[in-house]
Amino acid sequence: MPNLSRRHFMIGTSCFALTALAGVPAARAAEYDSHLVASPREVSFFGDQGLATSVWSYGATPGPTLRFKQGQNVRIKLSNELPDPTTVHWHGLRIENAMDGVPFLNQKPIAPGESFIYDFLAKDAGTYWYHPHVNSAEQVGRGLSGAIVVEEPEPIVVDRDLVWVVDDWRLRRDGTLAPFDDFHDATHGGRMGNVVTINGEAQPRLSVRRGERIRLRLINAANARVFGLKFPSADVWRVAVDGHPVDPSQVAGDELVMVSPGGRIDLILDMNGEPGETTIVEDHYYPRYSYVMAEIEYSTDPPIRSGAPAAPKRLAENPVAIPDLAKAERHEMLFEGGAMGGLRQAEYKGEVLGLRDLAGMGLVWAVNGKMIPPMTEADIGSPMLTMERGKSYVLSWHNKTAFDHPIHLHGHSFHLISTDGKRLEKPIIMDTVLIQPDQSVEVAFIADNPGDWALHCHVLEHAEAGMMGFVRVV
Ligand code: C2O
Ligand code: CU
Repeated sequence: MPNLSRRHFMIGTSCFALTALAGVPAARAAEYDSHLVASPREVSFFGDQGLATSVWSYGATPGPTLRFKQGQNVRIKLSNELPDPTTVHWHGLRIENAMDGVPFLNQKPIAPGESFIYDFLAKDAGTYWYHPHVNSAEQVGRGLSGAIVVEEPEPIVVDRDLVWVVDDWRLRRDGTLAPFDDFHDATHGGRMGNVVTINGEAQPRLSVRRGERIRLRLINAANARVFGLKFPSADVWRVAVDGHPVDPSQVAGDELVMVSPGGRIDLILDMNGEPGETTIVEDHYYPRYSYVMAEIEYSTDPPIRSGAPAAPKRLAENPVAIPDLAKAERHEMLFEGGAMGGLRQAEYKGEVLGLRDLAGMGLVWAVNGKMIPPMTEADIGSPMLTMERGKSYVLSWHNKTAFDHPIHLHGHSFHLISTDGKRLEKPIIMDTVLIQPDQSVEVAFIADNPGDWALHCHVLEHAEAGMMGFVRVV
């Protein structure tokens, strides 16, 4: 009998293969399966005794860390128990267009009470994250975000692998979230919170032992805040940026570990404080607003090891194609507008309008002199750029505004090749690059993922006020 059923199975398989050839997509067996439920929930950022805040969550704040292996087929079902439609975007993962989560561009929003199954192949190892892409400023601002760890076949050997989802919240005195859709946020630096959390906790304590080696995966899930962290009592190595390996380099004592909204940095921390000592991790990005992010508490136990371990090895490259700079097609994108930006007028749907009229429609940021209309079900608009599949591109991005803009491209990871006209010695592979006021950067990539891909500022209030469009790869 066992032979017979095995034979049955084999026949079944070959029939299926034939149908697949005839154009029916083959169903992939999922090697990782998970179910997320988005719903309202109460949390406290200040421990058990603190004020309660009503947030939106994927079951926990932040959502559960999705951990799978490089090369696995992943299937994640999202059930929407929120009062509003939603989607999930898998930030930084280079996946099929239909799974990318941008409403109307990639999929229909998932209505309240409905579910959607995302499935994709995890091509790249590293640290990524997930968040909604419908009314992102509000939905991410209400707490919808979570970490993704795609495990390398050969990781760096550490004593502990930790994820820090850093976020901020704008709370009123009673602990409730301040209202969204603040026009001042949209025209200035975005929604800055007044409470910063790590994994949903304000100023958490991390217990460590002297000599311990920790891999710390920093993910910036804040709507608008850039973090510039200082880690005392540790030797700090940068080993990956936006999921992709870099040559391990030690962070100098007074250097800040910067991570902009949407971005990720993987660090190796060799903890070298004294047993019993308590030190603090501080954010120093905004000079006048430095504050304590976390406390690091050394146990009184003897050191885990005597002396520092060897420098961390470089992680294996992800399969990101290397652009051919000599043959690349070049395009410029000039970002303008916002408060104190000096922009008077811009083109909107073929008509030149004054900034006042545009602001009346909620649009304050322009790209190459044009305001990008929001993508709707009836009209997604036209691509900012159409690219040929397989070809190399260099995009040169200039920030002519008074604010920071972390610019994010979907579906691709790009090589950052220059900042302010200066070539980087070695390009850095990223998906979100912070461009400060008056700064310009050049990014290069091969347009190898077909479809329409969002390109936007990850200050989510900016994206919703016009700093979001898309590019097309055909
Ligand atoms: Cu993390 Cu289009 O975003
Ligand atoms: Cu911006």
